[in-house]
Amino acid sequence: MGEFWKIVSAFCVCWYSVNAAHVAEKSGACFPPGFAFGVATASYQVEGAWNVSGKGENIWDRYTHEHPERVFDHQNGDVAADSYHQWKEDVGLLKQLGVNFYRFSISWSRILPTGFSNEINEEGVKYYQDLITELKRNHIAPVVTMYHWDLPQPLQDLGGWTNPMMADYFLDYATVLFDNFDGPVKMWITFNEPLSFCHDGYGGDDAPGGRSSGFEAYLCGHNVLRAHGKVYTLYRARKNGTSKGLIGITLDMSWIEPETTSKEDKQAAETARQFMFGWFAHPIFSAEGDYPPIMRKRIDAKSRHQNFARSRLPHLTPDEIRNIRGSFDFLGLNHYTTYLGSPADNPDSGEPSFADDMGVRITQKPDWPRSNSTWLRVVPWGFRRILNWIKKTYNNPQIVVTENGISLGPGVHDPKRVNYIESYLRALLDAILKDKCRVFGYTYWSLIDNFEWMRGYSERFGLYEVDYESPNRTRTARLSASYYSQIANTRCLPDNYVGYTITD
Ligand code: NOJ
Repeated sequence: MGEFWKIVSAFCVCWYSVNAAHVAEKSGACFPPGFAFGVATASYQVEGAWNVSGKGENIWDRYTHEHPERVFDHQNGDVAADSYHQWKEDVGLLKQLGVNFYRFSISWSRILPTGFSNEINEEGVKYYQDLITELKRNHIAPVVTMYHWDLPQPLQDLGGWTNPMMADYFLDYATVLFDNFDGPVKMWITFNEPLSFCHDGYGGDDAPGGRSSGFEAYLCGHNVLRAHGKVYTLYRARKNGTSKGLIGITLDMSWIEPETTSKEDKQAAETARQFMFGWFAHPIFSAEGDYPPIMRKRIDAKSRHQNFARSRLPHLTPDEIRNIRGSFDFLGLNHYTTYLGSPADNPDSGEPSFADDMGVRITQKPDWPRSNSTWLRVVPWGFRRILNWIKKTYNNPQIVVTENGISLGPGVHDPKRVNYIESYLRALLDAILKDKCRVFGYTYWSLIDNFEWMRGYSERFGLYEVDYESPNRTRTARLSASYYSQIANTRCLPDNYVGYTITD
């Protein structure tokens, strides 16, 4: 625990003093000293100002403009919650909440309009500098995601993440970020949810609209891992290796529970965990590095069976394996829900695809309470299980929960959200206090309602409601904002909020 608290205190230096006065460990349900609470957003989802002040076009600009019909409500992030103009107001909300940190992402094309580092947009740099300064002035630590899915379009025109050169272009971009923001920023996240943007972006419906999860998605994942390893190495080498900051990656992971207690279902669930999480976690967090053996075995075998001359899953070189292995100071975990796994009915059929390679049927129990998203059901016990699985599988790494939240309809009375937060935080507390999982921060997604990708504005995750009809995108606190604020200020779960029931 010694090393853990040393790093935490380096990271938490500004919030210890701020919240010391409020710490009240009266109730039994309290988080350990130094545990931090935050909220998150992402550039494309909240900023708007898509073509303002020198910003270049990114893949979500292009995709939503060319294919409005693919987005549920035919909307886009052109204005979104207008945080590019309303950022001071947003910092005000963070203050109101009393959170320790704000996780936001930097828009690559706002800083480098063409994606390349030969042309820096000073107005873009200033926007984030002002935001960071204001956060620090209010004792809120900035936690910066370098890439939350909004790739500059000119880089996509070169193949995007399927192009091996992307690892170097990302390194160049990271260098610009470190040169401009390292110091005030002490916590960096290279990538947000590579599973989502590689699988859904290059093999599904998300931007840039790739359609081959059996090829492109693996190339994307490969180059993202290479890029992450390079940036981690660069960061640790800066300032002659004396940098006090922390750098990690955020992976999304639902819990996959075996559908029954049968051996086959247990095996299928583990295979799904390895494909969906191990794909990125094994090369970085396991002692041996490289892709998970089960993924290598299944994709190699499938590729042979499909008469390909080589595996569709590329090979990392020994140098790359070494560079990627251990490239983390913490694991950022995005967790929302749970699925059931069992062997797929006909695992040998169909086009080469990620799902076919994995060969696992993924379902949910119809009686698990629903949110406003088709995929998100409320299963708090799954949170504790995934944390324990990570602890066991990757030698108990330090974790920050970088996203957790629920989508509901419009309206500020949101007891279901209060209940979701409460039940997930109780599961998290059990994982920390009873199971000794090393989690040192929790982030609610999201501070405000925002553009929920292919679901447009139809799903609202915010603690604050955004009025999309008003010119300033007025923000109004929900019941959940005051609830979460109480937790952030006391580090304890308030007793009197318990008792809401979640029904459909
Ligand atoms: C994951 C993503 O990081 C974020 O962009 C998205 O809005 C939330 N989950 C909710 O789906």
